[in-house]
Amino acid sequence: MQIPITPKLTEKLQPNFVPEIETGLLAKNASISPKFLYDPLGSHLFTAITLLPEYYPTNTEKNIFTKYHDQITNAIGTGGTLIDLGAGNCQKAESFFNALQPSNYLAIDFSVEYLENALKKLEGKYPNIQMQCIGMDFSKELIIPDSITKAKRTFFYPGSSIGNFLNSEALELLTQIKSQASDGGLLMGVDLMKEDSVLIAAYDDPLKVTAAFNLNILRSINAQLGSDFRVEQFRHQVKINHLENRVELYLEALEDLTVSWPGNSRVFKKGEFIHTENSHKYTIESIQLLLNKAGFKSTQIWTDPKDYFAVIYAQ
Ligand code: TRP
Repeated sequence: MQIPITPKLTEKLQPNFVPEIETGLLAKNASISPKFLYDPLGSHLFTAITLLPEYYPTNTEKNIFTKYHDQITNAIGTGGTLIDLGAGNCQKAESFFNALQPSNYLAIDFSVEYLENALKKLEGKYPNIQMQCIGMDFSKELIIPDSITKAKRTFFYPGSSIGNFLNSEALELLTQIKSQASDGGLLMGVDLMKEDSVLIAAYDDPLKVTAAFNLNILRSINAQLGSDFRVEQFRHQVKINHLENRVELYLEALEDLTVSWPGNSRVFKKGEFIHTENSHKYTIESIQLLLNKAGFKSTQIWTDPKDYFAVIYAQ
């Protein structure tokens, strides 16, 4: 059964994004928050990215989940509430339903329309699981409604989205998760550091699906802000920042241009960049340190043969 989101919660969770977008666009080094990548089309394009052979995180994580399914589910145990952070199409969580038998499933994502559709399909298949969804920007603050029982909350955060936060922000989110997990835990995916060529192929694929995904953020912003970005005036760019251990994603202006929106405008010179995402790559040691700082006492870790990716259960 899908419990409707309370009006109070909806109000709080559907903020006005215009000031945030304007601040990013008017900054000397312009940026757009990566959450705007996931409008309805962007969510579909990201699903397409996960099907690309070059985008190793999804497949590698899936292989780890499959190979160590019993060990992982034994570590977590059955029952309780499965809380899916960034649920998307809910497929990853579904693969754990039979083994974990949660009594409740709470799906959280920024793109709530996409989520509602996914959940409608799931509800019929698993009549024993109570399902709810919330549209929430948990990169700001993670608020689990009081109606969700505190007993055995298992947070599920796959796909290495943790890598999209700065270290301090990741620590903040993990600390919030730990404080709301009580006797439960966190099952998380983390992308590990590796050679540049593998990273470049994953973030700049030859079919240009990733380029389309990144460029689509301009249309997503046009819809939010009423701006007049023209996608054809930009191109997708990837940089590897070795100092910060991260992949940086940008849109580069291909000519001098002006973008206007109600009340303001911004000039971009040819070659100027708009920063759209960071994807930090961890080591086993650096992610363990972060989890410990966030209050987690123990970790169990599973990796693939190439050590490209890690799945961690932390308590
Ligand atoms: N969070 C994903 C990642 O860091 C999203 C992503 C994949 C992405 N490819 C991208 C974001 C290209 C922006 C541009 O792996």
